[in-house]
Amino acid sequence: MPHLFSPYTLKSVTLRNRIAMSPMTMYRSVDGRMDAYHQMYLGARAAGGFGLVFPEQVAIAPEGRTSTHCAGIYDDAQIEGHARVTSMIEDMGAVAAIQLGHTGRKGSELRPWEGKAQIAPDDPDGWQVVGPSEVSFDDGKHPYPVRELTVDEIHGLHRAYADAARRSAEAGYRWLELHFAHGYLGASFFSPLANRRTDAYGGSLENRARFLLEAIDAVREVWPDDLPLTMRLGSDDFHPDGTHFDEAVTAIGWMREHGLDLADISFGGNTPDVRDGIHGDEAAWVERAARLKREVGIPVAASWNLGIPATADDAVRSGALDVVLLGRPALANPHWPVWAARELGLDDPFSLVPEDWAWWLRNMRGHQGSIGWPEPAGANPVQGG
Ligand SMILES: Cc1cc2nc3c(=O)[nH]c(=O)nc-3n(C[C@H](O)[C@H](O)[C@H](O)COP(=O)(O)O)c2cc1C
Repeated sequence: MPHLFSPYTLKSVTLRNRIAMSPMTMYRSVDGRMDAYHQMYLGARAAGGFGLVFPEQVAIAPEGRTSTHCAGIYDDAQIEGHARVTSMIEDMGAVAAIQLGHTGRKGSELRPWEGKAQIAPDDPDGWQVVGPSEVSFDDGKHPYPVRELTVDEIHGLHRAYADAARRSAEAGYRWLELHFAHGYLGASFFSPLANRRTDAYGGSLENRARFLLEAIDAVREVWPDDLPLTMRLGSDDFHPDGTHFDEAVTAIGWMREHGLDLADISFGGNTPDVRDGIHGDEAAWVERAARLKREVGIPVAASWNLGIPATADDAVRSGALDVVLLGRPALANPHWPVWAARELGLDDPFSLVPEDWAWWLRNMRGHQGSIGWPEPAGANPVQGG
């Protein structure tokens, strides 16, 4: 029976375990580039035992970023910084994954700790945001009008997805996720709350899924066939007029036919008026993941409140999740997998870190209390060199 620490193979890629660092926007880029900061924190999680490591949502266009401090891969000059990150991650034994996205009407923002309000389009740090329709995100912080994308612009964005995917492969990423959740562009095309179009990209479920399916098609053309192509879907708006999970199940079935290898499910994020949301629930998406597995038969990953080791392990053992994504727990503890391995009674938790560290940690017994573990009975501390 697979468990949290069993290897996982998807296409030609094998993860050493089922634990992934979920994409997290860090607001630390200059001109969209990845630099030493990104190598440091992503390398640390790879060295800490994560099987799959994502940087943040990486923009396919400058105005697809959340803020001017966010990362992109819309220019060949950005490939080098990404390549340093991927080689660091892979040198530490993890697989490097990228999440490509466009923020749509939720772009042009201040950083969270500055209030996350939208910046005016004529400000040097702002831009005119775009979306499927002229519908603003109505949370009182996004006062500027949204410009509706033309069909030609939609086709241009699909070319931008493909160009970004080509650069991602060149940079050494081996797992590619498209971000269609959290109220960003893909999510807003999918949701009737943001998409009021009357052309082929709006209205019926088939039309609302078209932007997403065409992005998958465009990426699949350039992304190597033997590497996983996945996507994170805003699969429920928790609002009567928004996206419902039943629709997500149907659309993910279509995506599978278009070459999707795994579905990562999350919330829609298309309205601040969330009713009966599940964000605070432990293992919030696991029940839905199990349903998706049953009805579509596609591999599934999810995040949200899976950071208690037994919860994460159960999600894999029950067959609901193939990969467990950890956001905040990965931020808080770069060695979460080692801690989880010990909590779950794995024989050799240090086998998860690079062999040279593992040797020291296994052989320099004692002082266990200093790493938060109880001192083993009869321990006889030895000196290191
Ligand atoms: C600081 C931070 C930044 C995030 N940025 C992204 C992002 O760029 N893309 C994304 O899909 N989710 C993003 N998320 C959501 C996480 O990937 C994850 O889904 C969420 O934190 C739930 O997992 P958790 O309960 O393990 O934290 C972010 C979360 C945090 C805490």
